[in-house]
Amino acid sequence: MNTKTLLDKKFEIFIPADRIKARIKQIAAQINVDYRDERPVFLGILNGSFMFAADLFKEIHLDAEITFLKLSSYEGMSTTGKVKQLIGLNSSSVSGRHVLIIEDIVDTGGTLVDILDQIEASGPQSVKTISLLYKPQACKKDVPLDYIGFEIPDRFVLGYGLDYDGYGRNSKDIYILAEE
Ligand code: IMP
Repeated sequence: MNTKTLLDKKFEIFIPADRIKARIKQIAAQINVDYRDERPVFLGILNGSFMFAADLFKEIHLDAEITFLKLSSYEGMSTTGKVKQLIGLNSSSVSGRHVLIIEDIVDTGGTLVDILDQIEASGPQSVKTISLLYKPQACKKDVPLDYIGFEIPDRFVLGYGLDYDGYGRNSKDIYILAEE
């Protein structure tokens, strides 16, 4: 299926499932080398990364753990301004560990910067970031991204875990909003 309509919007196929799968294998192979003598802990950020995290983790051949965190929908205040709190962050599972954060997409970069601040506060030995998608033209923050699946234009995408108003996550391919 090359196009789909979801709610009021039209989407076109953008990254087919076989390309996603191939790229995940490459990223996992690199991580398997980079962490060959370590026991890292992967932190998947819900909801968007659930499919990517599952497929990536199947290709990780290290003694590794995975756990999932969710950002609160409300915003609390901190010294740095408004932040969404990470639900499920247990400092004992992060403290002294090599941590790899798994995100679905980095758009403005604000979310990942908030997440990094909160993870760093739990005293990990190291932190690296993985994002399936990255929109360089949209990104306003200096986000350290260590492993990137695909750089994409500043346009809305969905599928493979990413949603439009809650829908569209259950697609093996990634779609992009059609231009009018
Ligand atoms: P950021 O804080 O602007 O980097 O936004 C990150 C979050 O916004 C992601 O984790 C997604 O939940 C959502 N998001 C940003 N761009 C898209 C998109 O194109 N499609 C679906 N969700 C997106």
